[in-house]
Amino acid sequence: EGDEDLMSRPPVVTVMGHVDHGKTRLLDAIRKTNVIEGEAGGITQHIGAYQVQHEHEGTDRAITFIDTPGHEAFTAMRARGAKVTDIAVLVVAADDGVMPQTVEALNHAQAAGVPIVVAVNKTDKEGAKPDKVKGQLTEYGLVPEEYGGDTMFVHVSALKIEGIDELLDAVLLTADAALDMRANPNKDARGIAIEANLDKGRGAVATVLVQSGTLHVGDTIVAGQAHGRVRAMFNEKGENLEFAGPSRPVQVLGLSTVPRAGDTFLVTHDERTARQIAEKREAADRNAALAKRRKRITLEDFD
Ligand code: GTP
Ligand code: NA
Ligand code: MG
Repeated sequence: EGDEDLMSRPPVVTVMGHVDHGKTRLLDAIRKTNVIEGEAGGITQHIGAYQVQHEHEGTDRAITFIDTPGHEAFTAMRARGAKVTDIAVLVVAADDGVMPQTVEALNHAQAAGVPIVVAVNKTDKEGAKPDKVKGQLTEYGLVPEEYGGDTMFVHVSALKIEGIDELLDAVLLTADAALDMRANPNKDARGIAIEANLDKGRGAVATVLVQSGTLHVGDTIVAGQAHGRVRAMFNEKGENLEFAGPSRPVQVLGLSTVPRAGDTFLVTHDERTARQIAEKREAADRNAALAKRRKRITLEDFD
């Protein structure tokens, strides 16, 4: 692909951190303040990811947030070799400070080479010690700018909805400084399944993140072992979309079965090809499971 086809795309962000430090609340606060309500009654729905618009240094910018339980999603997807996240927002409660899962989360992000922005949360609380968090994280290589490092720390209160704009600014500054945020929209889509479920009326409902190219209604896709023709697409506002470009999360209807979080998807030329790829993957999985079982028996024999 030529360089002229590369266009800038929004960063994709995952929120991680210790239990109860405020990940869900923060995602809600960001969504509430920045997802512009849809026309059709403004009913936002949970699709496992959403995109916000944020005015940054005089320009309207988009940011995509993965809205599934950050830690699990991240590790599950990484386990299948999928790289979903550009930036990790590490939420640390200012009263609790760094806890075991804080360290686990930052280890995951660092192992994946994903830049971290620290959201020091619950700064509204009596007994909050945001500066202590900075000192603690410095020991893990997350050094704030005032100590000569390059990690951005932002004080927020997800409860009072304070510091959200500053956090979004920090995400964009970090993305612009550390990453090449470009993709080619002028080709068949590729991306990753974020979450999926089986709906009684609508069949398999999958939220996918387009990573490159553009996905269109009517495209034939294969996602893991699921395949089908995209019957309809929706954004986080429940609006119908005809197409979805790089970094756009969409809910997709029309798959044969439910893909797994972290499964990659791609567009194929026709439905037959999609089905054949899906069947091939299914057979490969079956064989791998069989081989594993055989191996286990052999090893036990030598015990
Ligand atoms: P898990 O998903 O269980 O790991 O928790 P979480 O990290 O998603 O935390 P959650 O958003 O559920 O918040 C945990 C508790 O902290 C809830 O009672 C929130 O209301 C509270 N909380 C979250 N953010 C803030 C904040 O900024 N200030 C205060 N005072 N409380 C907060
Ligand atoms: Na919680
Ligand atoms: Mg939560």
